Amino acid sequence: MKIAIASDHAGYEYKEKLKTFLKEIGFNSEDMGTYSSESVDYPDYAITLSKKVSSGEFAQGILICGTGIGMSITANKITGVRAAVCESVESAKYSRLHNNANVLCLGARITPIEKAKEIVKVFLETEFEGGRHASRIEKIHRLTGI
Ligand code: RB5
Repeated sequence: MKIAIASDHAGYEYKEKLKTFLKEIGFNSEDMGTYSSESVDYPDYAITLSKKVSSGEFAQGILICGTGIGMSITANKITGVRAAVCESVESAKYSRLHNNANVLCLGARITPIEKAKEIVKVFLETEFEGGRHASRIEKIHRLTGI
C-alpha cells in the first residue's frame, strides 16, 4: 500500500525520518511537502493530502505539524476524511478499530520520534472492526451528505 505523507516546517525533519521508517516496514510513501524547514502554513499541506485521500487515490495518509492539531482540524473539513491525532499506540489502534481513521496526525513537538514509529506501525497494520462502528461512522458522514 502507498501512503501519502505531508508536514509543515515544524514536522519536516520528523517526516523525513518517518519516510525512512515506512520504507523499512514495507510501505511506499508519496511525499506531498513541505520540503524544507522554512516556515509554511499547515492548512495548505493538510488540504492537498486530504483531497487525495478523499478521492480514493490514497487509502491512508499521515500529516505532521507541531502538535498534530492544526492538521487534524483542517483534514476533518474534507469530505470522507477521518483524521485522528494520536499520541499513543492505544489511540492509534482504536482510531482504526472503531473510527476507521484514514489520516493519522502526529505532533513533532509532542511525540518522540521513536514513539511515533510505533504509532505509525500500529495505525497502518490495524483493520477497521466494522459492525456497530460502521453505522456510527455513517452518522458522521451524513453531516456532509455522503
Ligand atoms: C507552527 O508553529 C505550528 O503552529 C503548527 O506546526 C501546528 O502545531 C499547528 O497546529
